[in-house]
Amino acid sequence: MDGAPRVACVTPARRVAGREVTTLEGLDDAVRTRWAEALVTTGGSQCGFCTPGIVMRLAAAVEAGSAEADASSSPGAASRLDETVDKALLAHLCRCTGWQTITEAARLVAGATPAPGSISTSGSRDLSAAARRAEIEGGVPQSVGLDVVLGQELFADDRAPAGGLVAVPDGRGGYGVGATLAEARTQAGKVQGRSTTIAPGHPVPVPEGEWDLTLATTWLEPAYLEPDSSWCEPGGLPASPFGNGGAFGGKASSPVADEARRLADEHGQPVRVLWSREDVVRYGPKRPPIAAGVRGDGTGLLRVGMPRGAVDTVAWAEMVSLVAAVAPGLVVEQATVLGPPVSLDLRAAVWAEAAVLVAVLPYMLDTSRQDGVVDVPVEVMSPGGSRAVARIAADGSLAVEVDAGDPLDDVVLRSYVIGACHQALGWVRSEGVAVDDRGEVQDLTVRSFGILQARGMPDVDVTLAGELMRPPVNGSDAVIAAVAAARWLADGLPRYWPTDRASAGRG
Ligand code: FES
Repeated sequence: MDGAPRVACVTPARRVAGREVTTLEGLDDAVRTRWAEALVTTGGSQCGFCTPGIVMRLAAAVEAGSAEADASSSPGAASRLDETVDKALLAHLCRCTGWQTITEAARLVAGATPAPGSISTSGSRDLSAAARRAEIEGGVPQSVGLDVVLGQELFADDRAPAGGLVAVPDGRGGYGVGATLAEARTQAGKVQGRSTTIAPGHPVPVPEGEWDLTLATTWLEPAYLEPDSSWCEPGGLPASPFGNGGAFGGKASSPVADEARRLADEHGQPVRVLWSREDVVRYGPKRPPIAAGVRGDGTGLLRVGMPRGAVDTVAWAEMVSLVAAVAPGLVVEQATVLGPPVSLDLRAAVWAEAAVLVAVLPYMLDTSRQDGVVDVPVEVMSPGGSRAVARIAADGSLAVEVDAGDPLDDVVLRSYVIGACHQALGWVRSEGVAVDDRGEVQDLTVRSFGILQARGMPDVDVTLAGELMRPPVNGSDAVIAAVAAARWLADGLPRYWPTDRASAGRG
């Protein structure tokens, strides 16, 4: 706005009156192309929802600033550039990439020496193979290429027909419906974003028993960036709420498509159902909290916190079989808790927790729990057949080796691996959702969840060990479990996650 970056999602329209606004489309062609190519080269964009905003921010910080001129010419300039980028990214959230590949793209644009491993050395890329890898990791069909980076990959509401009605949740189980979003919001009595001073709790008590290892976690917000939306014509089929990303499984049971169809039929007009960020946080499913106790022989009990009456028996049975594949000695049972909806479809839900427990057990039996154990390889095999080994050094840097079969595209797989590292570290150390004693989510802003910012991420060194001859399988879910286990081990196996939410998440 007037040449300075502004976060569009929290800038009221009245503040824009009379000002000059430049969006990605208005950026100089050469600058836009340079950023788009760099982000595709490093894998700095996955779903792409955050990317146009990030490009605008970084273009202002890197292109116009002195960092570019410095970057290639003086010692220490690359780390100054990284600092510039980390600072510029404070106003943004990328839930997919784990930031590192974005920083690497900025280095490319600025002409700085690329970090080792940050760009493919395997020659020209096959973007359809890259898209296949993205689909395997993201769980829904995904594109890879300049269109994604430039915001031209359409999400559900981008395809909605003009006209028709808009519907938003009213907080009482129904929808406010109006001719415009403003009218629908007025009908619904909209709740604005808020943060609370209530700390995230651990609602599932650790089971009674003689355990060698225990763990309790809290609810986790999937925090995918594109809020749920759908639209439908009367008598038609509703649009899928998935865009170019799988929402980490968070939209697998989203009601928006059914609601769009119902409301379109009821009103006899096309209806767009739009959830805001606050709606997603209040009504969308969380990763369920767990509590577990494990004995040295791997037997034990793992309880999963679910709201009363919420069990999808098919999803539950599938989850139990996945847990049995990674931790055959664990019994899984449900614990009823007062809280938000949860989903067993969220990435690696529960089996990753079980895999974490099993992976650290041998080290825990040998070593003092107080000091933490660093620089040891922690291995997880996923039920789907991938293998991840994570190693955390004393300075917090992270080395990850992953075998996910044929990588298909090194850049995309590496990007998903780093994204999984980011989610794992936040999960263990900083993330949580504050829930009040009536079971209602109180933190409604993205910033409140304790998601690690770019400057809170350690360096991640990725080795792709997959063989071309083996069919490709999802690798990032095994990485989540392996990195979480390594981080928990290095932290001395505290009984509860999160452990330092305030400092790590908001740093
Ligand atoms: S690529 Fe950044 S949120 Fe998906």
